[in-house]
Amino acid sequence: MDFKSDKVHVLEHPLLQHKVSMLRDKRTGVKDFRQIVSEIAGLMCYEATRSLPLEEVEIETPICMAKTKVLSGKTLAIVPILRAGLGMVDGILNLIPSAKVGHIGLYRDPDTLQPVEYYCKMPNDISDREVIVLDPMLATGGSASAAIQFMKNYECRSIKLMSIIAAPEGIERVSADHPDVEIYCAQVDQGLDEHGYIVPGLGDAGDRIFGTK
Ligand code: PRP
Ligand code: URA
Repeated sequence: MDFKSDKVHVLEHPLLQHKVSMLRDKRTGVKDFRQIVSEIAGLMCYEATRSLPLEEVEIETPICMAKTKVLSGKTLAIVPILRAGLGMVDGILNLIPSAKVGHIGLYRDPDTLQPVEYYCKMPNDISDREVIVLDPMLATGGSASAAIQFMKNYECRSIKLMSIIAAPEGIERVSADHPDVEIYCAQVDQGLDEHGYIVPGLGDAGDRIFGTK
């Protein structure tokens, strides 16, 4: 599927496709589902962090002095949208343990499909960091768009969105509301059903990560 914006990155790596298929399977239980969400987040993080700034340092190897590069200054904050975004946090922290974590609590009202805020806690230096908003499901895009607006209200200048499965409607909504934001997803599905669920999707990501249904 082609999107007009060069801000949309569909990461179709074979490992991602394989793992997303495992998530989609309704027979996949809570423990495996949670583990695979975390693994996918780690794999996607590799692409989504390509632009992190580097600085040159000098170190001594066992052989000689060498100029080499390390991540520069305050780099990254990841911001999961509660609840389901929490499932993506560990996979990224395994790779970037120094990343700080902000939390946004949003749920989608089942009747109106509008996002309702119930919690927000950010690191003090959030505006100095590159931000990646995490949510495995980008459906109508209402939750992601609201979360990105929160981050803009915190004066964050570099914001990315990482979702595992996206509906075209969600990509279009976020691209229209926030044309500056890069969207990373593993797969784009057909669309939404009458309840706003992604088709074929994987069901309710929060329920499947936390075993609440
Ligand atoms: C899900 C999902 C997203 C949102 C996506 O959360 O994790 O946050 O729906 O839908 P949207 O793109 O139409 O806004 P949900 O509201 O089910 O809350 P939960 O994570 O607490 O289960
Ligand atoms: N939220 C989910 O968890 N799954 C969907 O398909 C849509 C929204």
